[in-house]
Amino acid sequence: MKRIAVLTSGGDAPGMNAAIRAVVRTGIGRGMEVYGVEQGYSGLIAGNMRLLGARDVSGIIQTGGTMLGSARSLEFKTEDGRLRALRELNRRDIGGLVVIGGNGSQTGAHALSQLGFPVVGVASTIDNDLYGSDMTIGVDTALNIALEAIDRLKITASSHQRAFMLEVMGRDCGYLALMSGIAGGAEAIVIPERELTPEQVASEIRTAYERGKLHAMIVVAEGAKNNMDELEAFFKVHKERLGFEIRITRLGHVQRGGMPGAFDRLLATRLGAAATRCLAEGQHNVLVGLKQGDIMTTPLVEVVTNKKQLDLSLFDLVADLSR
Ligand code: F6P
Repeated sequence: MKRIAVLTSGGDAPGMNAAIRAVVRTGIGRGMEVYGVEQGYSGLIAGNMRLLGARDVSGIIQTGGTMLGSARSLEFKTEDGRLRALRELNRRDIGGLVVIGGNGSQTGAHALSQLGFPVVGVASTIDNDLYGSDMTIGVDTALNIALEAIDRLKITASSHQRAFMLEVMGRDCGYLALMSGIAGGAEAIVIPERELTPEQVASEIRTAYERGKLHAMIVVAEGAKNNMDELEAFFKVHKERLGFEIRITRLGHVQRGGMPGAFDRLLATRLGAAATRCLAEGQHNVLVGLKQGDIMTTPLVEVVTNKKQLDLSLFDLVADLSR
């Protein structure tokens, strides 16, 4: 394969740039020409791509976001959109595509592969909800940002003897909330995989108050049914149940905007290099991800038809750990 393209799609994730850099430089190392597609699948449909040289990806390994831009393309979900994208790839004689992204992006990659085009996915999303990779690019950095927020909130919470409720991202997956909550010593963690009722959360907070704690921390996944709005409404009416006064913080996109840490730079570099190796060696229509410490491939069809399960063993320790 002499000419390949790379795109980033869906929500950006810290480390995407390190993955682009690895694809471009290892692709060049294998004698390939590497095209960068701007703005994900939208750019692919519009034929918005340019040849990237080794110097074009200088100085990006440490930067968050994606130098290629990203998008959530509705058009690519239609057959017409995908056929137009395919025409653009064929017109430039591009023989393979690397798609760096999460669930929606890999669904698009699978759809393109169904049209007979060789695709390799690179597991990247801060949500860590992608089947085929134990960790995805961006998770570790986002987790550390959430953790720093918890640590900071605990300081001010202790000064005022308050409870804080922090909402973290993750779409329908509780990974970021669970792991940041455990690492940050939260008194309660609310995730879609193990819903707590507002009464249960209030009771955990009350218990912390009666134990003489100076603060209580509740970490809430954005995808939980009993989300921040539900909990806030309940606590407004039942203030006396908590003991503590309560404040709320929504972390939002702050979690996505960080400089990638060492883990994400290394993971992204390994996955990007593996993606070009797969294309060069004719291993197509797979996702490259991290499984038990090794870089492994999973067929895209399996990736898009399976749901990754969250390991809940740490959740069962929350009550003991916050004693
Ligand atoms: O998938 C990554 C993610 O950050 C989710 O955690 C969040 O629900 C969503 O993207 C937000 O999407 P947008 O940036 O389009 O608002």
